[in-house]
Amino acid sequence: MSTNFSHTARVIRADQVTPLIKHFSFERVDGKPFSPFSAGSHVVIGMNNGTNTHKNPYSLVGSSNNFMEYEIAVRLDSTGRGGSLFMHNNIELGSEIEIGNPYNLFPVYKPAKKHLMIAGGVGITPFMTYIDEMNLMHSNFELHYSVRDFENGAFAKELQDKYPNQVNLYIQANGVMANFNEILDNQPLGTHVYVCGPQQMVADALRIADEMGWPNSSVHSEEFKAPEPGNPFTVTLAKSDCKINVRSRESLLEALENANIEIPYSCRGGACGFCKTEVIDGEITHRDYFLTDAEKASGNCIMPCISRAQGDHLTLNI
Ligand code: FES
Repeated sequence: MSTNFSHTARVIRADQVTPLIKHFSFERVDGKPFSPFSAGSHVVIGMNNGTNTHKNPYSLVGSSNNFMEYEIAVRLDSTGRGGSLFMHNNIELGSEIEIGNPYNLFPVYKPAKKHLMIAGGVGITPFMTYIDEMNLMHSNFELHYSVRDFENGAFAKELQDKYPNQVNLYIQANGVMANFNEILDNQPLGTHVYVCGPQQMVADALRIADEMGWPNSSVHSEEFKAPEPGNPFTVTLAKSDCKINVRSRESLLEALENANIEIPYSCRGGACGFCKTEVIDGEITHRDYFLTDAEKASGNCIMPCISRAQGDHLTLNI
């Protein structure tokens, strides 16, 4: 197992909260507390299927004051590469998984006068810890949560029951859509907006905030990409003089890990920058959010969790 993982944990609850979303709670098998985390943090979960280990990042959804349990919610993606399917079909009460330390790429801006959260679908997950923390801090907050239908709105009823004045639900099956112009209009000075959800929803909300003159520093978003399949290619490791084949449905990071090459990582979705690796030769298809345009144009570094070779080979300086 990769040294990026810190603890072996056991499933102590596994609930199907919607037809597509399963909610898991874990405790450490050694009985010790987990590392503290702040609202918006994620962890990487490692699941071994007997032949290889799926490693997927998930936002923590439980209380940041309960160090004895970590909770995540997993949306089933039957067209994905198998991690969420494995979690849904194979991880049950008593199952053991590996879990990394929490890392926060989407923190709450605590000095904000008001927190305005915009969520779509499973993008609600980081806001579960936000709301818990904001409630404890007696902060002024408002959630706008879009779901396809009520049945598929994870935690929708729980949130509405607990915070009827702060939670606004938009059920698309009923023809009710969130209007970002209205939501972002007339907010008090000092408001910070946080957006998490499907790519198009995040892009629309950010564009409208920009058009309305919201300062970039007051607008926060989180969107991890999953690695997409691509053409297979060969990677040469210059320092260790070895060649590895990267298959079409695995990421470069996964291929390196399968060859027992340790690369640091956190998000596994092109956002954190931990896995940045120097490239000596070969064209790159960049898919990350981390590198600047100039770094991408230079062609001398890659985020192997998400980006691939454009041609049939790459040479890395590792
Ligand atoms: S692990 Fe975060 S960018 Fe690759």
